[in-house]
Amino acid sequence: MAKIIDGKVVSSKIRQDLKEEVCKLKEKSISVTLAVIIVGNDPASRTYVNNKKKACSEIGIISEEYAFDENVKETELLNLIYNLNRRNDVTGILVQLPLPKHLSEKKIIESIDPKKDVDAFSEINVGKIMIGNYNFLPCTPAGIMELLTFEEIDVSGKHCVVVGRSNIVGKPMAMLMLHKNATVTICHSKTKNLKDICKTADIIVSAVGKEKFITKDMVSPGTIVIDVGMNRDKNGKLCGDVDFENVEPIASYITPVPGGVGPMTIAMLMKNTVNASTLQQ
Ligand code: GUN
Repeated sequence: MAKIIDGKVVSSKIRQDLKEEVCKLKEKSISVTLAVIIVGNDPASRTYVNNKKKACSEIGIISEEYAFDENVKETELLNLIYNLNRRNDVTGILVQLPLPKHLSEKKIIESIDPKKDVDAFSEINVGKIMIGNYNFLPCTPAGIMELLTFEEIDVSGKHCVVVGRSNIVGKPMAMLMLHKNATVTICHSKTKNLKDICKTADIIVSAVGKEKFITKDMVSPGTIVIDVGMNRDKNGKLCGDVDFENVEPIASYITPVPGGVGPMTIAMLMKNTVNASTLQQ
């Protein structure tokens, strides 16, 4: 039986600390504002944005939503970001991804002032993460590191297998673990012998986006299993990448979906937004 790593408990502690920090900033007449840009009607994006706004309001961060029709012109978004960059009262700017195909995600993300790029998606911030000298933490990987720290799991010297090589999760996850002296293997859709590699892992982080992708036969007894997946099963129920029911009995620790990594991503976004205000003083 694995110990369940409870992201709700850990994230609520972080949010509580941030609430106190925001209160102290207010005493110094410093307010924290997050501008959230959403394009189109993707229901998942809508849920994420609502959750981010809710977290802001709990902590005392002002959130401003800019919602656009899916046919919005790129110049309109670029103009908005230009103005948000110039506003001293706007601390952080976030563009919810994915964007419709006619918009260049790269151009739009790069137009955000790196000091306000609280997702840490811009090239400058990604480069800083690579070097280990960062202003902003990549939210999901940083949230996972917080969960491991909370459980007093030291990654140093451990074999960490990251499944998935996205710019948002897989690559920065590997970097953060490497900075903490883990031995890291990144696996992806072209990896041969995925099962054999996973079996040698002390820690598996799965960020694939496929239901029941990590099965029992891929996991050695005692492995720590971190599930970043956010999928819907055939009944529309939220589930991760890991076949939880069959993997949980052999893992030593495991994150559930929902209630594992998800709440941590938002908590780290809030942390970046509060830190951005210090960076901009
Ligand atoms: N889409 C999926 N995950 C994320 C995220 O962490 N930030 C943004 N901006 N968009 C996303």
